[in-house]
Amino acid sequence: MKSALLEKFNATFGRAAKIVARAPGRIEFIGNHTDYNGGTVLGAAIDRGVWVALAARDDHERRFASDQRGSIISVPANRLERLSGEKSWVNYPLGVLAALPEFGLRAPDGFDYLAMSDLPAGAGLSSSAAIELSSALAFTELAGEKPTRETLVKAARHAENNFVGVPCGILDQGVSGFGKKDHLVFIDCRGPRFETVPLPAGAHFWIFNTHTKHALVDGLYAARHRECMEAAKILGVPLLVDAPPNALSSPAAAKLPPVVANRARHILDEIARVTATTAALRSGDLATVGRLLTQSHRSSQTLFENSTPELDFLVDTLVATPHVFGARLTGGGFGGAVMALTSGEFGDAEAQRVAGAYGKKFGARPDILHTQTGDGAALIPVGPSR
Ligand code: GLA
Repeated sequence: MKSALLEKFNATFGRAAKIVARAPGRIEFIGNHTDYNGGTVLGAAIDRGVWVALAARDDHERRFASDQRGSIISVPANRLERLSGEKSWVNYPLGVLAALPEFGLRAPDGFDYLAMSDLPAGAGLSSSAAIELSSALAFTELAGEKPTRETLVKAARHAENNFVGVPCGILDQGVSGFGKKDHLVFIDCRGPRFETVPLPAGAHFWIFNTHTKHALVDGLYAARHRECMEAAKILGVPLLVDAPPNALSSPAAAKLPPVVANRARHILDEIARVTATTAALRSGDLATVGRLLTQSHRSSQTLFENSTPELDFLVDTLVATPHVFGARLTGGGFGGAVMALTSGEFGDAEAQRVAGAYGKKFGARPDILHTQTGDGAALIPVGPSR
């Protein structure tokens, strides 16, 4: 990837890149919509991500290019406005540039910028966090800043919330920033506090990307966010994580509209499942971990209502297949991908059978990705290509 990136940078801008950064995509392992409720969540950085190459310019122009689109997009360094249409991908690096001063960090002035990705798009693997983190690392390096990892993660999330305009929690950026090969990232979103938890040997991840996306996906995410905040307000707590264990049988809970009560039930149960999953991981009990993953999906299906018939079919088919510990939707929901945790005996033949059954029912086969865990965001020395 690195040599392809450096070559493409040369071909695009006619000069050499000076800085290279890379940040991984992520799997949401368990902890669905818990992050913005102040809860806990487990995710894994994967071995695919977004690469950014950068070199300073002295004419106060910021020029952006990517391997996905042909043209160079030039923006004066003193202009930080949202772009639309074809150019809207540039809102991710622009959002990071706008966020850096909010964290006391200088943003670089003019530069040439190239992004390249080996993350499948639209698969719920958070290419947005990956481009934000790799951009944040490259920009701060060019500006001579040395922020902590936590500040970088917060600045990337700030970009997503305030510039891109998605009210997401800290999961995606936290996992992309703190990922570690053969580990999961545990986040207590209230601090936030980040830890890594070893992944027991013999655990495999398979992603089935349906390429389906609810037309209202952004609006539905925001609606779930609102419903959770409404539940917290009625229960008299700042965030749902602050609700006591018996909160949903308290007198205040009687005032929750039934749908809102279901959303709250999902969040409180899901936070408990993250605790149980972390304990089961520490004792290497993958069967229990798998059961908790599938329970999480059932709760999304019935209480949080962020699943779809396509995702439910994949989970049903996967959990009936040998060597599968458990399966669930991964990420925001309303379409996207299902993740299965399997033993090493689950192979391509089994995955193809699942995809075939899905294809028969829905007309198109899902993409299959057998992915490994990987390390978090990092600067990559621009030396001879490896
Ligand atoms: C998306 C958001 C995350 C998180 C998940 C659901 O991936 O970006 O912050 O809320 O949905 O758990």
